[in-house]
Amino acid sequence: MSKFATALLTENVLFKNQHPGENDSRTEVLAGLHQKQKTINPKYFYDTHGSELFERITTLPEYYPTRTERALYVEHADAIAEYCGKNCVLIEPGSGSSEKVRLLLESLKPAAYVPMDIAKEFLQRSAVKLGKEFPWLNVHAVCADFGTYDEAPEGLPEGKRVIFYPGSTLGNMTPDMAKQFLTNLRPWLGHDGGMLIGIDLHKSTNTLTAAYNDRDGVTAAFNLNVLNHINRLTSSNFDVKNFSHRAFYNLALQRIEMHLESNIDHIVRLGESAIVFAKGETIHTENSYKYTQESFQKLAGEAGFRVRQSWLDDEQLFSVHYLDLQ
Ligand code: SAH
Ligand code: AVI
Repeated sequence: MSKFATALLTENVLFKNQHPGENDSRTEVLAGLHQKQKTINPKYFYDTHGSELFERITTLPEYYPTRTERALYVEHADAIAEYCGKNCVLIEPGSGSSEKVRLLLESLKPAAYVPMDIAKEFLQRSAVKLGKEFPWLNVHAVCADFGTYDEAPEGLPEGKRVIFYPGSTLGNMTPDMAKQFLTNLRPWLGHDGGMLIGIDLHKSTNTLTAAYNDRDGVTAAFNLNVLNHINRLTSSNFDVKNFSHRAFYNLALQRIEMHLESNIDHIVRLGESAIVFAKGETIHTENSYKYTQESFQKLAGEAGFRVRQSWLDDEQLFSVHYLDLQ
């Protein structure tokens, strides 16, 4: 039996809590802030407020990825369902609001949908809302760090496993980490499983820079909010007023980098530790890698996957791929 209790949130929504403890978070955050280039893992963006801010980002005119990817699902839902097969068990690591899956459910008719996310309250709220809208759907929500799983969560119904990994969340990992992550997902899939994955594409620096520097400052608020989340998790005393949002395209590495730049020389307390900031020094909070068709195909191949089909919009802003095991 699983050591993690499962709760029935509503008639068709199960919830399992496997959230990493606060001690693990404190150790990880401290290690990142003690590096020469200070870093915070982007998973810490997502407390409830951070998840809500991300939802606002997805509706911004500058943030082209979400509307472009959604349009691909609307247009190709039936073809996608052919690849996934009916009655699959659809597992979404980093499911957020579970908005995109709605566009596929009627075509896919999965045996179960498994949203997995680190943001507990937001996951619960999203799972219950989805379960109400689709009363026929079995929802098995799992609150967890998706990077810590060797195999699919236990206790799922029988059926072909399909991992749904939209949003270019893979792009938030370095290519080496992404290759390792995809390799680790293979045992989740049994012998016949597959993966439906959304990948953002390399494009003009202007378009990319604008997408991460929106006029309304929502992305800035999202970036800064990580400090409030860290304060609660680790009893630190970051003051968001002492930092500014920075986002730029690193063309050589084909990635957007988000940073928080210190506005002044100052010291932040984190438990027993003192973190010293010089004016102009940054915390690197996120990478968002952009791929080409070729570079993604190569990465997937190196992780043991074969790209069976790709769907792109006319402007080639965003791509969706169905992968299976080589
Ligand atoms: N799949 C959705 C949401 C993408 S945003 C979409 O395409 O719109 C990224 C999501 O991944 C957030 O909800 C965040 O909480 C979650 N996430 C990020 N890192 C995670 C991790 N290590 N483990 C679990 N969830 C994570
Ligand atoms: C979730 N992830 C793929 C988003 C991205 O575009 O890298 C997060 C984000 N960061 C800033 N805006 C959106």
